[in-house]
Amino acid sequence: MNNFLNINEITLTELESILEDAHRLKKSLEPGFKGLRRDNRLEGCNLGLYFQKPSTRTRLSFETGTMQLGGKVINIRPDEIHLNEGESIEDTAKILSLFLDAIVIRLFKEEHLYEFANSANIPVINGLTNDSHPCQVLTDIFTFQELRGNISEKTVVWFGVANNVLNSFLHASTHFNFKIIFCGPEKFKPQKKVLDLRPRGKERFFEIESDPIKAVKQADLIVTDKWVSMHDKPLNEKDLEELMRFQINKTLVDKGKKEVLFMHCLPASKGLEVTDEMFKDKRSVVFEEAENRMHLQKAILCWCLKKIS
Ligand code: CP
Ligand code: NVA
Repeated sequence: MNNFLNINEITLTELESILEDAHRLKKSLEPGFKGLRRDNRLEGCNLGLYFQKPSTRTRLSFETGTMQLGGKVINIRPDEIHLNEGESIEDTAKILSLFLDAIVIRLFKEEHLYEFANSANIPVINGLTNDSHPCQVLTDIFTFQELRGNISEKTVVWFGVANNVLNSFLHASTHFNFKIIFCGPEKFKPQKKVLDLRPRGKERFFEIESDPIKAVKQADLIVTDKWVSMHDKPLNEKDLEELMRFQINKTLVDKGKKEVLFMHCLPASKGLEVTDEMFKDKRSVVFEEAENRMHLQKAILCWCLKKIS
């Protein structure tokens, strides 16, 4: 059994086997109802979903994907179990392991994810914490490679505020050999503790560029996210004003490479980190990213349960 907690803890060979399986799973889809069973790999599997924060994409893509492979999904609402209201993470993880075969959890604190995984006897998948979002980032790599080929030696420019999604990109960059340029206000740059996690000798894979035009010219992939994540406090007027300089808009992207792609994990705040025009631009692949969540996460789940093909 494998946990899928953070990309930097999984070998490149294993990650590549997940990406390859996701391609196979996507290619083998035939037209028909979205809930149609496509494969029996997860027959008899009970997948639990426990989300302490809202989710549209992660939850639905895991639900649909699991059903397509013959498995069942049990949604566990935070307000209907005893966790944090008289029952510990350790006991909850042990009890849920008695009835489920795998679980996707979306928590606030990263340390709670590890506490849960260390006590569980089933595979645990990180569905996002305040500090990471590995399912999203592996999907983004899948989407980039599907459209533009190998991501190795490419440059990803992250605009705006460093957050959980960027952290997972940083985890992935040293494995997959791509460079990340952060372009945003100094105050919102990635934390030292995340950069320090990267293996020695891999420092060249990260740079800071405060000029959006210089940054965009280097980008093979432009990425941004909401400036305020679900766990963040609202921004003050001064920060908002400063961040507007890093908005992704057509004028900026037109200064970049012809083949550049734009990604956003969604949900988006149009008019802030990205304009509506750029969101709908042909270089924007936000809906491809969202659709690929399902294909990639089917492969993650199969890898966790040693059912990869
Ligand atoms: N991108 C993403 O994880 O979306 P949800 O919060 O809707 O799951
Ligand atoms: N950074 C965002 C990602 C949402 C999918 C958040 O944590 O709210």
